[in-house]
Amino acid sequence: MPWLDVPMIRRPMRLRSCYSKLRFHAILISSAQCCSMGNDLIQIANVRPQGGAVLDVLPESAMDFALAPSLAGEGKTFYIETFGCQMNVHDSEKVAGVLMGRGYRPVDCYEDADIVLYNTCSIRERAAQKVFSRLGAFRKAGTAGRKIIGVLGCVAQQEGERFFERAPQVSLVCGSASYPKLPDLLAQIESGRRRVRGLALDTEDCFETEFTRRDNRFRAYLTIIEGCDQRCAFCVVPMTRGPERSRAGAKIVAESRRLAEAGYTEIQILGQIVNAWRDPSPARWSFAELLGRVAEVPGVRRVRFTTSHPRYFTPDIVQAMDSHPALCDQIHLPVQAGSSEVLARMRRGYSREEYLEKIDCIRKARRAISLSTDIIVGFCGESEKDFERTVSLLEEVEYDQVFSFKFSPRPNTSALEFADTVEEEVKGNRLSVLQEAQRRIQLRRNQALVGQKVEVLVEGYQARLRQAVGRTTSNRVLNFPGDPADVGCYRMVTVTSAGPNSLVGERIGDW
Ligand code: 5AD
Repeated sequence: MPWLDVPMIRRPMRLRSCYSKLRFHAILISSAQCCSMGNDLIQIANVRPQGGAVLDVLPESAMDFALAPSLAGEGKTFYIETFGCQMNVHDSEKVAGVLMGRGYRPVDCYEDADIVLYNTCSIRERAAQKVFSRLGAFRKAGTAGRKIIGVLGCVAQQEGERFFERAPQVSLVCGSASYPKLPDLLAQIESGRRRVRGLALDTEDCFETEFTRRDNRFRAYLTIIEGCDQRCAFCVVPMTRGPERSRAGAKIVAESRRLAEAGYTEIQILGQIVNAWRDPSPARWSFAELLGRVAEVPGVRRVRFTTSHPRYFTPDIVQAMDSHPALCDQIHLPVQAGSSEVLARMRRGYSREEYLEKIDCIRKARRAISLSTDIIVGFCGESEKDFERTVSLLEEVEYDQVFSFKFSPRPNTSALEFADTVEEEVKGNRLSVLQEAQRRIQLRRNQALVGQKVEVLVEGYQARLRQAVGRTTSNRVLNFPGDPADVGCYRMVTVTSAGPNSLVGERIGDW
């Protein structure tokens, strides 16, 4: 099975993935509605790194705690399955850390687990349905009664109390805004309570953990802002993740230092709207300043950040990229639609022209910056002309990657005020047209790289094909004949050929 690697926040992928070796599982949403960058050579999103111990960032205090003999969960096991975005993946890493801090041990499959947790996504209807099909399968297998089953994340928040009626085998329902209370909720479960809930949304706290059980050995996720205060008409996130809460700048830099000391060379800064981050400490750093400070941490070679909202995308972010080579040549800037009328109905807070001004600013950076975006087709009232504006925007911007989705009406969103007028079939056709247009753009842009020398962080090795697989700073997947020892190293590679989704290369000397 492929090793999970989510290229972008909240990006569903076509493949079921699992971290089985790394002991906690993440299933990404299989969806024909989505197009994302994969790998043309190896038909999996990524491959699992070979050998070596999984690196954890475990401060000594947490280590002592983890080894203490009288822990509530000692001898018990857990399994987490994660659906959806990188924020969810990272939340699960933190939840795993909390459980391990209480003495629980992660296991590879739900059959072996005393506690089974589903960290859910409700961004689109199909994503939300996943957890119910998992719970149904459980009931059929007749194993539910012997385990504690918990549902975390966005579907938990959205369904709330109703979950207990819909799925009586569930004992814990907890939205992400209540994760800081997770130790208390676990203590209630340990004391035998049958139904435990964490559903409050009005929190000011971020989910801080003493120990985070990270599952990628080279790239560490680091959340800087939780929740979302935007009210995009289509989006359920403000209702499922609660209000925006930013972590203090100094805390983020300190965590980056610890990550670098633990051997991570790439940091991926996360937030639903990452550039809405505001330093709550008296230092009052700007987001651009924070990026610069993380990029300056000794040992950190690459910093990515996602997802940026065009409304908060300011020129100082590009200036920070100009000044700090460790900030990767990549920006994900979801546009959602190319027609200003549709953007207004979506309540995005910018017009097509204003968005293009931001792109212009990025194009003026000292180095070429790779651009990616999210698109929704078939939003309420989208006409054929509106849709053509979206396709023309793709041609104008020439993105390197596009994640595209059919509009899916969500509960408690203001889009419900409009009729979902575009027929499913029309949505499907528009999606195909858009994805084909983008495929051609990507192929053209990738082929223009043939002959160039690029640096790759090798993330995996496919023994069968003797191929190392890595990523360029622009987040392109690159395969080259390599060696298992390349994994985790930076290699210089000449690009020799290109497909729409990935590059192929030859390693240069002993770099
Ligand atoms: N329907 C379809 N796509 C959606 N997205 C968010 N909400 C919806 C919805 N209701 C997409 C947006 C967002 C990405 C993470 O998911 O493009 O940027």
